Amino acid sequence: MVKISDLLDRQTGLYFPKGRWEDLERGLLKIAAEGKFENIDTLIQSYLSAPLKSSQIEVLANHLTVAETYFFRDETSFQALEEYILPKVISKQNHSRSLRVWCAGCSTGEEAYSIAISLNRVMPNRNDWDISILATDIAPQSLEKAKSGLYGEWSFRQAPAWLKDKYFKKSKPGAYQIDPRIQKMVTFQQKNIVDAMSFDDSAQGYDIIFCRNVLIYFGPDKIRNVVDGFYRCLNEGGFFFVGASEASLQVYSKFTAMSVSDVTFYQKPSSADSRSSAPKIGKDIAKTANQYDEAFYQYQLQNYEKAERLALITFESCREERVAALLSRIYANLGRTSEAIQWCEKTIAMNKLNPAHCYLYANVLQEAGRDDDAIEALKKTLRLDESFILAHFNLGHLMHVKGQFEKSMQCLDEAMLLLKVLPAESIVPHSEGLTAAKLQQMIQNMVKKARPA
Ligand SMILES: C[S@@+](CC[C@H](N)C(=O)[O-])C[C@H]1O[C@@H](n2cnc3c(N)ncnc32)[C@H](O)[C@@H]1O
Repeated sequence: MVKISDLLDRQTGLYFPKGRWEDLERGLLKIAAEGKFENIDTLIQSYLSAPLKSSQIEVLANHLTVAETYFFRDETSFQALEEYILPKVISKQNHSRSLRVWCAGCSTGEEAYSIAISLNRVMPNRNDWDISILATDIAPQSLEKAKSGLYGEWSFRQAPAWLKDKYFKKSKPGAYQIDPRIQKMVTFQQKNIVDAMSFDDSAQGYDIIFCRNVLIYFGPDKIRNVVDGFYRCLNEGGFFFVGASEASLQVYSKFTAMSVSDVTFYQKPSSADSRSSAPKIGKDIAKTANQYDEAFYQYQLQNYEKAERLALITFESCREERVAALLSRIYANLGRTSEAIQWCEKTIAMNKLNPAHCYLYANVLQEAGRDDDAIEALKKTLRLDESFILAHFNLGHLMHVKGQFEKSMQCLDEAMLLLKVLPAESIVPHSEGLTAAKLQQMIQNMVKKARPA
Protein backbone atom coordinates (compact mmCIF):
# COMPACT_ATOMS: atom_id res chain seq x y z
CA MET A 1 0.00 0.00 0.00
CA VAL A 2 2.89 2.38 0.75
CA LYS A 3 4.33 1.87 -2.75
CA ILE A 4 1.06 2.15 -4.63
CA SER A 5 -0.07 5.23 -2.71
CA ASP A 6 3.32 6.83 -3.36
CA LEU A 7 3.04 6.02 -7.08
CA LEU A 8 -0.48 7.45 -7.24
CA ASP A 9 0.66 10.63 -5.52
CA ARG A 10 3.54 11.12 -7.97
CA GLN A 11 1.75 10.30 -11.19
CA THR A 12 -1.88 11.24 -10.62
CA GLY A 13 -1.77 13.56 -7.65
CA LEU A 14 -4.36 11.33 -5.97
CA TYR A 15 -3.44 11.37 -2.32
CA PHE A 16 -3.98 8.34 -0.11
CA PRO A 17 -2.26 8.77 3.24
CA LYS A 18 -2.54 5.84 5.65
CA GLY A 19 -5.90 7.03 6.96
CA ARG A 20 -7.41 6.58 3.46
CA TRP A 21 -5.96 3.18 2.61
CA GLU A 22 -9.35 1.55 3.06
CA ASP A 23 -10.81 3.78 0.32
CA LEU A 24 -7.84 2.98 -1.88
CA GLU A 25 -8.24 -0.75 -1.34
CA ARG A 26 -11.95 -0.59 -2.16
CA GLY A 27 -11.20 1.20 -5.46
CA LEU A 28 -8.41 -1.20 -6.38
CA LEU A 29 -10.64 -4.21 -5.66
CA LYS A 30 -13.19 -2.90 -8.15
CA ILE A 31 -10.51 -2.32 -10.78
CA ALA A 32 -9.06 -5.81 -10.18
CA ALA A 33 -12.50 -7.40 -10.60
CA GLU A 34 -13.27 -5.50 -13.81
CA GLY A 35 -9.78 -6.12 -15.23
CA LYS A 36 -9.93 -9.83 -14.43
CA PHE A 37 -6.88 -9.69 -12.17
CA GLU A 38 -6.57 -12.64 -9.81
CA ASN A 39 -6.38 -10.38 -6.82
CA ILE A 40 -5.43 -6.88 -5.79
CA ASP A 41 -1.74 -7.80 -5.33
CA THR A 42 -1.33 -8.78 -8.99
CA LEU A 43 -3.01 -5.54 -9.97
CA ILE A 44 -0.64 -3.51 -7.78
CA GLN A 45 2.36 -5.40 -9.20
CA SER A 46 1.28 -4.54 -12.74
CA TYR A 47 1.07 -0.87 -11.80
CA LEU A 48 4.47 -0.89 -10.12
CA SER A 49 6.29 -2.72 -12.91
CA ALA A 50 6.48 0.28 -15.29
CA PRO A 51 5.45 3.94 -15.35
CA LEU A 52 1.67 4.18 -15.49
CA LYS A 53 0.20 4.37 -19.00
CA SER A 54 -2.46 6.99 -19.62
CA SER A 55 -5.10 4.26 -20.02
CA GLN A 56 -4.21 2.98 -16.52
CA ILE A 57 -4.35 6.50 -15.08
CA GLU A 58 -7.82 6.90 -16.59
CA VAL A 59 -9.07 3.68 -14.99
CA LEU A 60 -7.59 4.70 -11.64
CA ALA A 61 -9.15 8.16 -11.89
CA ASN A 62 -12.54 6.71 -12.79
CA HIS A 63 -12.50 4.50 -9.68
CA LEU A 64 -10.63 6.57 -7.10
CA THR A 65 -12.20 9.99 -7.47
CA VAL A 66 -15.71 11.12 -6.79
CA ALA A 67 -17.41 12.74 -9.75
CA GLU A 68 -19.89 14.50 -7.43
CA THR A 69 -21.08 17.74 -9.01
CA TYR A 70 -24.27 19.61 -9.89
CA PHE A 71 -25.45 22.74 -11.67
CA PHE A 72 -24.71 26.06 -9.95
CA ARG A 73 -22.96 24.30 -7.08
CA ASP A 74 -22.36 26.91 -4.35
CA GLU A 75 -24.68 29.36 -6.04
CA THR A 76 -23.06 32.37 -4.36
CA SER A 77 -19.88 31.68 -6.34
CA PHE A 78 -21.88 32.14 -9.52
CA GLN A 79 -23.43 35.27 -8.07
CA ALA A 80 -19.92 36.65 -7.48
CA LEU A 81 -18.98 35.54 -11.00
CA GLU A 82 -21.95 37.28 -12.62
CA GLU A 83 -22.08 40.40 -10.50
CA TYR A 84 -18.45 41.12 -9.72
CA ILE A 85 -15.94 39.14 -11.78
CA LEU A 86 -17.47 39.07 -15.26
CA PRO A 87 -18.22 42.81 -15.35
CA LYS A 88 -14.58 43.43 -14.44
CA VAL A 89 -13.16 40.99 -16.96
CA ILE A 90 -15.51 42.24 -19.68
CA SER A 91 -14.49 45.85 -19.21
CA LYS A 92 -10.80 44.88 -19.07
CA GLN A 93 -11.03 42.80 -22.24
CA ASN A 94 -13.35 45.12 -24.11
CA HIS A 95 -10.64 46.17 -26.55
CA SER A 96 -9.73 42.61 -27.62
CA ARG A 97 -13.22 41.16 -27.08
CA SER A 98 -11.75 37.83 -26.14
CA LEU A 99 -12.39 35.91 -22.95
CA ARG A 100 -10.88 32.57 -21.91
CA VAL A 101 -12.11 30.38 -19.09
CA TRP A 102 -10.70 27.06 -17.90
CA CYS A 103 -12.80 24.76 -15.76
CA ALA A 104 -10.34 22.15 -14.44
CA GLY A 105 -11.69 18.96 -12.88
CA CYS A 106 -15.05 19.56 -14.54
CA SER A 107 -16.33 16.04 -13.89
CA THR A 108 -19.57 15.46 -15.84
CA GLY A 109 -19.77 19.07 -17.06
CA GLU A 110 -22.41 20.71 -14.84
CA GLU A 111 -19.93 23.31 -13.58
CA ALA A 112 -18.60 24.23 -17.03
CA TYR A 113 -22.13 24.57 -18.42
CA SER A 114 -23.12 26.69 -15.39
CA ILE A 115 -20.22 29.03 -16.24
CA ALA A 116 -21.38 29.18 -19.88
CA ILE A 117 -24.92 30.00 -18.72
CA SER A 118 -23.62 32.76 -16.44
CA LEU A 119 -21.66 34.22 -19.34
CA ASN A 120 -24.75 34.03 -21.49
CA ARG A 121 -26.78 35.87 -18.85
CA VAL A 122 -24.42 38.79 -18.40
CA MET A 123 -23.02 39.06 -21.95
CA PRO A 124 -25.92 39.56 -24.30
CA ASN A 125 -23.50 40.58 -27.03
CA ARG A 126 -21.40 37.47 -26.51
CA ASN A 127 -21.56 36.64 -30.22
CA ASP A 128 -19.33 39.66 -30.85
CA TRP A 129 -16.75 38.15 -28.54
CA ASP A 130 -14.29 35.36 -28.97
CA ILE A 131 -15.21 33.27 -25.94
CA SER A 132 -13.65 29.96 -25.09
CA ILE A 133 -14.50 27.74 -22.15
CA LEU A 134 -12.18 24.77 -21.83
CA ALA A 135 -13.41 22.08 -19.45
CA THR A 136 -10.97 19.34 -18.51
CA ASP A 137 -10.92 16.27 -16.34
CA ILE A 138 -8.71 13.26 -15.90
CA ALA A 139 -11.64 10.83 -16.09
CA PRO A 140 -12.78 10.00 -19.64
CA GLN A 141 -16.10 8.47 -18.58
CA SER A 142 -17.14 11.72 -16.94
CA LEU A 143 -16.07 13.68 -20.01
CA GLU A 144 -18.19 11.48 -22.27
CA LYS A 145 -21.24 12.25 -20.17
CA ALA A 146 -20.34 15.94 -20.14
CA LYS A 147 -20.10 16.05 -23.93
CA SER A 148 -23.54 14.47 -24.31
CA GLY A 149 -25.11 17.37 -22.38
CA LEU A 150 -27.84 15.04 -21.08
CA TYR A 151 -28.65 15.22 -17.38
CA GLY A 152 -30.99 13.67 -14.84
CA GLU A 153 -32.89 15.32 -11.97
CA TRP A 154 -30.01 14.81 -9.52
CA SER A 155 -27.80 17.26 -11.41
CA PHE A 156 -30.36 19.99 -10.68
CA ARG A 157 -30.62 19.35 -6.95
CA GLN A 158 -29.51 22.85 -5.93
CA ALA A 159 -30.15 24.62 -9.19
CA PRO A 160 -32.05 27.91 -9.45
CA ALA A 161 -35.71 27.52 -10.44
CA TRP A 162 -35.34 29.10 -13.90
CA LEU A 163 -32.52 26.84 -15.06
CA LYS A 164 -34.38 23.88 -16.53
CA ASP A 165 -37.04 25.92 -18.30
CA LYS A 166 -34.62 28.35 -19.85
CA TYR A 167 -31.65 26.24 -20.80
CA PHE A 168 -32.84 22.62 -21.13
CA LYS A 169 -35.29 20.57 -23.14
CA LYS A 170 -36.94 17.54 -21.63
CA SER A 171 -35.87 14.63 -23.81
CA LYS A 172 -37.68 11.90 -21.86
CA PRO A 173 -39.08 11.68 -18.32
CA GLY A 174 -36.38 12.76 -15.89
CA ALA A 175 -33.81 13.53 -18.63
CA TYR A 176 -32.90 17.00 -19.80
CA GLN A 177 -30.83 18.01 -22.83
CA ILE A 178 -28.84 21.22 -22.58
CA ASP A 179 -29.54 24.03 -25.06
CA PRO A 180 -27.19 23.44 -28.02
CA ARG A 181 -26.14 27.12 -27.97
CA ILE A 182 -24.75 26.63 -24.45
CA GLN A 183 -23.31 23.21 -25.31
CA LYS A 184 -21.39 24.79 -28.20
CA MET A 185 -19.67 27.24 -25.86
CA VAL A 186 -17.76 24.53 -23.98
CA THR A 187 -14.92 22.32 -25.24
CA PHE A 188 -14.17 19.20 -23.22
CA GLN A 189 -10.71 17.72 -23.12
CA GLN A 190 -8.92 15.14 -21.06
CA LYS A 191 -6.11 16.58 -18.95
CA ASN A 192 -4.32 15.37 -15.86
CA ILE A 193 -3.53 18.57 -13.99
CA VAL A 194 -0.72 16.88 -12.11
CA ASP A 195 1.07 16.49 -15.42
CA ALA A 196 3.30 19.55 -16.02
CA MET A 197 2.26 19.42 -19.70
CA SER A 198 -1.18 20.65 -18.65
CA PHE A 199 0.37 24.05 -18.00
CA ASP A 200 2.48 24.36 -21.16
CA ASP A 201 2.45 27.30 -23.58
CA SER A 202 -0.91 26.36 -25.08
CA ALA A 203 -2.50 26.68 -21.65
CA GLN A 204 -1.60 30.33 -21.07
CA GLY A 205 -3.74 33.45 -21.21
CA TYR A 206 -6.79 32.54 -19.13
CA ASP A 207 -8.97 35.25 -17.61
CA ILE A 208 -10.78 32.96 -15.19
CA ILE A 209 -9.89 29.49 -13.89
CA PHE A 210 -12.21 27.29 -11.86
CA CYS A 211 -10.71 24.33 -10.06
CA ARG A 212 -13.24 23.55 -7.38
CA ASN A 213 -13.37 20.45 -5.22
CA VAL A 214 -10.43 18.84 -7.03
CA LEU A 215 -7.41 19.84 -4.95
CA ILE A 216 -8.97 18.04 -1.97
CA TYR A 217 -7.75 14.81 -3.56
CA PHE A 218 -4.12 15.93 -3.71
CA GLY A 219 -1.24 15.96 -1.25
CA PRO A 220 0.33 19.26 -0.15
CA ASP A 221 3.26 19.20 -2.64
CA LYS A 222 1.02 18.47 -5.58
CA ILE A 223 -1.39 21.21 -4.52
CA ARG A 224 1.47 23.72 -4.51
CA ASN A 225 2.68 22.62 -7.98
CA VAL A 226 -0.78 22.64 -9.48
CA VAL A 227 -1.67 26.03 -7.98
CA ASP A 228 1.65 27.41 -9.35
CA GLY A 229 0.68 26.04 -12.75
CA PHE A 230 -2.70 27.77 -12.65
CA TYR A 231 -1.02 30.99 -11.55
CA ARG A 232 1.23 30.93 -14.62
CA CYS A 233 -1.72 30.21 -16.92
CA LEU A 234 -3.75 33.18 -15.71
CA ASN A 235 -3.54 36.62 -17.27
CA GLU A 236 -2.58 39.40 -14.93
CA GLY A 237 -5.69 40.45 -13.05
CA GLY A 238 -7.24 37.03 -13.82
CA PHE A 239 -9.39 35.20 -11.27
CA PHE A 240 -9.04 31.78 -9.68
CA PHE A 241 -11.85 29.87 -7.97
CA VAL A 242 -11.40 26.90 -5.65
CA GLY A 243 -14.00 25.02 -3.62
CA ALA A 244 -15.41 26.53 -0.44
CA SER A 245 -13.46 24.10 1.74
CA GLU A 246 -10.20 24.60 -0.16
CA ALA A 247 -9.55 28.26 0.65
CA SER A 248 -6.12 28.82 2.16
CA LEU A 249 -4.07 31.96 2.46
CA GLN A 250 -0.81 30.01 2.53
CA VAL A 251 -1.31 27.96 -0.61
CA TYR A 252 -2.51 30.89 -2.66
CA SER A 253 -0.12 33.45 -1.19
CA LYS A 254 0.92 34.73 -4.63
CA PHE A 255 -2.69 35.69 -5.32
CA THR A 256 -4.69 38.51 -3.80
CA ALA A 257 -7.49 36.91 -1.78
CA MET A 258 -10.86 38.55 -2.28
CA SER A 259 -14.25 38.06 -0.81
CA VAL A 260 -17.66 38.99 -2.19
CA SER A 261 -20.89 37.87 -0.49
CA ASP A 262 -18.97 35.37 1.63
CA VAL A 263 -17.34 33.76 -1.39
CA THR A 264 -13.56 33.74 -1.36
CA PHE A 265 -11.68 33.73 -4.65
CA TYR A 266 -8.23 34.75 -5.79
CA GLN A 267 -6.88 37.30 -8.21
CA LYS A 268 -3.48 37.25 -9.89
CA PRO A 269 -1.99 40.67 -9.27
CA SER A 270 -0.79 42.76 -12.19
CA SER A 271 2.96 42.80 -12.87
CA ALA A 272 3.10 46.32 -11.46
CA ASP A 273 2.20 44.75 -8.10
CA SER A 274 4.78 41.99 -8.16
CA ARG A 275 7.58 43.43 -10.33
CA SER A 276 8.73 46.14 -7.94
CA SER A 277 11.89 45.18 -6.12
CA ALA A 278 11.37 47.95 -3.60
CA PRO A 279 8.96 46.35 -1.17
CA LYS A 280 7.48 49.62 0.01
CA ILE A 281 6.39 50.71 -3.45
CA GLY A 282 5.18 47.19 -4.26
CA LYS A 283 3.08 47.19 -1.13
CA ASP A 284 1.62 50.61 -1.96
CA ILE A 285 0.58 49.47 -5.42
CA ALA A 286 -0.96 46.29 -4.06
CA LYS A 287 -2.78 48.39 -1.52
CA THR A 288 -4.07 50.64 -4.30
CA ALA A 289 -5.39 47.63 -6.24
CA ASN A 290 -7.19 46.39 -3.14
CA GLN A 291 -8.54 49.86 -2.39
CA TYR A 292 -9.97 50.11 -5.89
CA ASP A 293 -11.68 46.74 -5.48
CA GLU A 294 -13.05 47.81 -2.12
CA ALA A 295 -14.27 51.14 -3.55
CA PHE A 296 -15.93 49.32 -6.44
CA TYR A 297 -17.49 46.85 -4.06
CA GLN A 298 -18.89 49.66 -1.87
CA TYR A 299 -20.21 51.31 -5.04
CA GLN A 300 -22.03 48.10 -5.95
CA LEU A 301 -23.52 48.03 -2.46
CA GLN A 302 -24.68 51.62 -3.10
CA ASN A 303 -22.55 52.88 -0.20
CA TYR A 304 -21.61 55.83 -2.36
CA GLU A 305 -20.06 58.03 0.37
CA LYS A 306 -17.75 55.23 1.46
CA ALA A 307 -16.96 54.38 -2.16
CA GLU A 308 -16.16 58.06 -2.81
CA ARG A 309 -13.69 58.29 0.09
CA LEU A 310 -11.87 55.13 -0.98
CA ALA A 311 -11.84 56.02 -4.67
CA LEU A 312 -10.45 59.53 -3.99
CA ILE A 313 -7.59 58.12 -1.90
CA THR A 314 -6.90 55.53 -4.58
CA PHE A 315 -6.90 58.10 -7.37
CA GLU A 316 -4.42 60.24 -5.42
CA SER A 317 -1.88 57.43 -5.49
CA CYS A 318 -2.45 55.83 -8.90
CA ARG A 319 -4.29 58.27 -11.23
CA GLU A 320 -5.81 55.37 -13.15
CA GLU A 321 -8.59 55.74 -15.70
CA ARG A 322 -10.77 53.07 -14.07
CA VAL A 323 -10.71 54.97 -10.75
CA ALA A 324 -11.64 58.25 -12.46
CA ALA A 325 -14.49 56.43 -14.23
CA LEU A 326 -15.67 55.00 -10.91
CA LEU A 327 -15.63 58.48 -9.33
CA SER A 328 -17.76 59.78 -12.22
CA ARG A 329 -20.32 57.06 -11.54
CA ILE A 330 -20.24 57.63 -7.80
CA TYR A 331 -20.92 61.38 -8.16
CA ALA A 332 -23.61 60.72 -10.77
CA ASN A 333 -25.36 58.39 -8.32
CA LEU A 334 -24.95 60.89 -5.49
CA GLY A 335 -26.65 63.52 -7.68
CA ARG A 336 -23.54 65.75 -7.43
CA THR A 337 -23.78 66.65 -11.09
CA SER A 338 -21.04 69.23 -11.49
CA GLU A 339 -18.44 66.95 -9.83
CA ALA A 340 -19.69 64.06 -11.98
CA ILE A 341 -19.19 66.22 -15.11
CA GLN A 342 -15.65 67.14 -14.05
CA TRP A 343 -14.72 63.51 -13.41
CA CYS A 344 -16.28 62.38 -16.69
CA GLU A 345 -14.20 64.95 -18.55
CA LYS A 346 -11.09 63.82 -16.69
CA THR A 347 -11.85 60.18 -17.57
CA ILE A 348 -12.47 60.95 -21.25
CA ALA A 349 -9.21 62.92 -21.39
CA MET A 350 -7.44 59.75 -20.19
CA ASN A 351 -9.10 57.55 -22.83
CA LYS A 352 -11.05 59.14 -25.67
CA LEU A 353 -11.94 55.83 -27.27
CA ASN A 354 -14.01 54.21 -24.54
CA PRO A 355 -17.73 54.52 -25.47
CA ALA A 356 -18.83 53.81 -21.89
CA HIS A 357 -17.12 57.02 -20.70
CA CYS A 358 -18.95 59.10 -23.35
CA TYR A 359 -22.25 57.46 -22.52
CA LEU A 360 -21.92 58.25 -18.83
CA TYR A 361 -20.93 61.82 -19.71
CA ALA A 362 -24.09 62.12 -21.81
CA ASN A 363 -26.24 60.93 -18.91
CA VAL A 364 -24.70 63.40 -16.51
CA LEU A 365 -25.05 66.27 -19.00
CA GLN A 366 -28.70 65.36 -19.46
CA GLU A 367 -29.14 65.35 -15.69
CA ALA A 368 -27.66 68.85 -15.62
CA GLY A 369 -30.24 70.00 -18.21
CA ARG A 370 -27.62 70.34 -20.98
CA ASP A 371 -29.61 68.34 -23.54
CA ASP A 372 -27.75 69.56 -26.65
CA ASP A 373 -24.38 68.60 -25.14
CA ALA A 374 -25.87 65.26 -24.07
CA ILE A 375 -27.01 64.61 -27.66
CA GLU A 376 -23.50 65.31 -28.93
CA ALA A 377 -22.01 62.95 -26.33
CA LEU A 378 -24.50 60.21 -27.30
CA LYS A 379 -23.65 60.62 -30.97
CA LYS A 380 -19.98 60.32 -30.08
CA THR A 381 -20.75 57.17 -28.07
CA LEU A 382 -22.38 55.66 -31.15
CA ARG A 383 -19.46 56.65 -33.39
CA LEU A 384 -17.26 54.62 -31.04
CA ASP A 385 -19.70 51.70 -30.75
CA GLU A 386 -22.74 51.61 -33.01
CA SER A 387 -24.19 48.66 -31.10
CA PHE A 388 -24.47 50.64 -27.84
CA ILE A 389 -28.16 49.96 -27.13
CA LEU A 390 -28.67 52.49 -24.35
CA ALA A 391 -27.08 55.26 -26.40
CA HIS A 392 -29.64 54.65 -29.18
CA PHE A 393 -32.41 54.54 -26.59
CA ASN A 394 -31.41 57.75 -24.80
CA LEU A 395 -30.83 59.55 -28.07
CA GLY A 396 -34.32 58.46 -29.14
CA HIS A 397 -35.72 59.90 -25.94
CA LEU A 398 -33.87 63.22 -26.28
CA MET A 399 -34.84 63.58 -29.93
CA HIS A 400 -38.45 63.08 -28.91
CA VAL A 401 -38.13 65.78 -26.24
CA LYS A 402 -36.70 68.09 -28.92
CA GLY A 403 -39.71 67.38 -31.15
CA GLN A 404 -37.63 65.52 -33.74
CA PHE A 405 -40.03 62.59 -33.94
CA GLU A 406 -38.73 60.92 -37.07
CA LYS A 407 -35.18 60.84 -35.76
CA SER A 408 -36.45 59.68 -32.40
CA MET A 409 -38.25 56.72 -34.03
CA GLN A 410 -35.13 55.80 -36.01
CA CYS A 411 -33.08 55.65 -32.80
CA LEU A 412 -35.71 53.62 -30.96
CA ASP A 413 -36.04 51.22 -33.93
CA GLU A 414 -32.28 50.75 -33.87
CA ALA A 415 -32.33 50.00 -30.13
CA MET A 416 -35.22 47.57 -30.67
CA LEU A 417 -33.36 45.72 -33.42
CA LEU A 418 -30.32 45.27 -31.21
CA LEU A 419 -32.49 44.19 -28.28
CA LYS A 420 -34.32 41.55 -30.28
CA VAL A 421 -31.24 39.37 -30.56
CA LEU A 422 -30.76 39.33 -26.80
CA PRO A 423 -32.34 36.74 -24.49
CA ALA A 424 -35.27 38.42 -22.72
CA GLU A 425 -33.81 38.08 -19.22
CA SER A 426 -30.28 39.17 -20.07
CA ILE A 427 -29.03 42.43 -18.65
CA VAL A 428 -28.64 45.28 -21.12
CA PRO A 429 -24.95 46.31 -21.18
CA HIS A 430 -24.12 49.41 -19.11
CA SER A 431 -27.61 49.45 -17.60
CA GLU A 432 -26.72 48.16 -14.14
CA GLY A 433 -29.59 45.69 -14.07
CA LEU A 434 -32.23 46.51 -16.70
CA THR A 435 -33.33 43.40 -18.60
CA ALA A 436 -33.71 43.27 -22.38
CA ALA A 437 -37.44 42.43 -22.01
CA LYS A 438 -38.05 45.43 -19.75
CA LEU A 439 -36.29 47.85 -22.08
CA GLN A 440 -38.22 46.48 -25.06
CA GLN A 441 -41.42 47.11 -23.15
CA MET A 442 -40.33 50.66 -22.29
CA ILE A 443 -39.58 51.35 -25.96
CA GLN A 444 -42.91 49.89 -27.06
CA ASN A 445 -44.72 52.16 -24.59
CA MET A 446 -42.81 55.20 -25.83
CA VAL A 447 -43.59 54.35 -29.44
CA LYS A 448 -47.27 53.77 -28.61
CA LYS A 449 -47.51 57.19 -26.98
CA ALA A 450 -45.74 58.87 -29.88
CA ARG A 451 -47.87 57.11 -32.49
CA PRO A 452 -51.33 56.76 -30.97
CA ALA A 453 -53.45 54.19 -32.81
C1 LIG B 1 -15.74 16.28 -6.96
S1 LIG B 1 -15.42 16.47 -8.65
C2 LIG B 1 -15.51 18.21 -8.80
C3 LIG B 1 -16.37 18.63 -9.93
C4 LIG B 1 -16.58 20.13 -10.08
N1 LIG B 1 -15.35 20.84 -10.17
C5 LIG B 1 -17.40 20.68 -8.93
O1 LIG B 1 -16.87 21.35 -8.05
O2 LIG B 1 -18.60 20.45 -8.92
C6 LIG B 1 -13.65 16.18 -8.73
C7 LIG B 1 -13.15 15.96 -10.15
O3 LIG B 1 -11.72 16.08 -10.16
C8 LIG B 1 -11.22 15.21 -11.13
N2 LIG B 1 -9.78 14.98 -10.92
C9 LIG B 1 -9.18 14.32 -9.89
N3 LIG B 1 -7.85 14.28 -10.09
C10 LIG B 1 -7.60 14.94 -11.25
C11 LIG B 1 -6.41 15.21 -11.96
N4 LIG B 1 -5.20 14.79 -11.54
N5 LIG B 1 -6.51 15.90 -13.11
C12 LIG B 1 -7.72 16.33 -13.56
N6 LIG B 1 -8.88 16.07 -12.92
C13 LIG B 1 -8.82 15.38 -11.77
C14 LIG B 1 -12.06 13.98 -10.91
O4 LIG B 1 -12.04 13.10 -12.02
C15 LIG B 1 -13.44 14.55 -10.64
O5 LIG B 1 -14.22 14.61 -11.80
